[in-house]
Amino acid sequence: MEPDSSLPAEQSDAGMLRGFWYPALFSTAVPCGRMRQAMLLGMPLVIGRDAQGRPFALRDSCPHRGMPLSYGRLDGHHLECSYHGWRFDVHSGQCREIPSWVTGDKLKVERIYAVHFPAEDQDGYVWVYMPDSERRDEPAPPAPRLPVFSSQYRLTHLSANLPVSVDHGIIGLMDPAHGPFVHQAWWWRTRRSIQQKEKTFEPIPNGFRIQAHKPSANSAAYKLLGVYGKPITTTIEFVLPNMRFEQIHCGDNWFSSRATVTPITANECRIDFCAAWNVFRHVPFMVSIFRIFARMFIGQDQRTMQKQSEGLKYNPRLMLIDDADRPAKWYFQLKQAYLESKRTGQPMRHPISGPVTLRWRS
Ligand code: FES
Ligand SMILES: [Fe+2]
Repeated sequence: MEPDSSLPAEQSDAGMLRGFWYPALFSTAVPCGRMRQAMLLGMPLVIGRDAQGRPFALRDSCPHRGMPLSYGRLDGHHLECSYHGWRFDVHSGQCREIPSWVTGDKLKVERIYAVHFPAEDQDGYVWVYMPDSERRDEPAPPAPRLPVFSSQYRLTHLSANLPVSVDHGIIGLMDPAHGPFVHQAWWWRTRRSIQQKEKTFEPIPNGFRIQAHKPSANSAAYKLLGVYGKPITTTIEFVLPNMRFEQIHCGDNWFSSRATVTPITANECRIDFCAAWNVFRHVPFMVSIFRIFARMFIGQDQRTMQKQSEGLKYNPRLMLIDDADRPAKWYFQLKQAYLESKRTGQPMRHPISGPVTLRWRS
């Protein structure tokens, strides 16, 4: 098939979308009263937890002379900069004290702010909301939440750093054609198992969904859930800025996962995979077994992208082909439409107008 489109040129902000929540750290990495450094969208952050356990996020830079605030001291709800001791409220960023200030100084201490970001715990991550620079005052929507379908379930997390831009991370995540080459294993599938696939995609707000379908006989879902003997349905969704959801239902049994690809800097991203399920709850070591397989799969993607990054260093021309790369094209079109709607204030014009059936071999 002829290539019919090349990858779009780098957009402003290196293709990193603002106006969304991103997972910054595992919640357990930030105990009460402690701080950690993190990086999101090229922004250095100090993330901490106050004495009550509430997370906070500030730009890791003192508004006085740029000293990283993470070198400072956290006491209850205040962070004291290590250089001249200015004290900031950790949730609002407001300056509360300048030790060198003498009565009669004209300086209005309370008008000084460290840059702060909304932060929330959800699904075992500290999420940070990265607002548009022009819309800093708009309230943040609630942080994303992994869908779960019963009160009892197992939950696990895995993450891997990828030395490529968030765009390559995401199109690698949604790419249906690399499976037989990257994820082969003799007991799972080989190149010889390649077969034609056909799936119908439909638009959803900010993304697209593969219509609920019966998983193919060589998929993980089928191999695992086939034992229940009930019909299995799988739904896969992609939603801006960076989330792929997959749900598998089989009677009352369910499995739900979310992979997010978070931009760290222009050329680094991290995949965070979070999965919950109520199947095989009574099988011992199920979480450990699941993690071994999930880590192996993510490791295969990670090593592939490490190698790919060697090739990308020299700015090669790239291509996206139909139909296997059509989801990647939609991703770029969704981003454009999102940025355009922010620029114009008009509702977002969805690039997909109705159900589309794509065919490829994998
Ligand atoms: S640099 Fe932080 S108080 Fe001076
Ligand atoms: Fe993969």
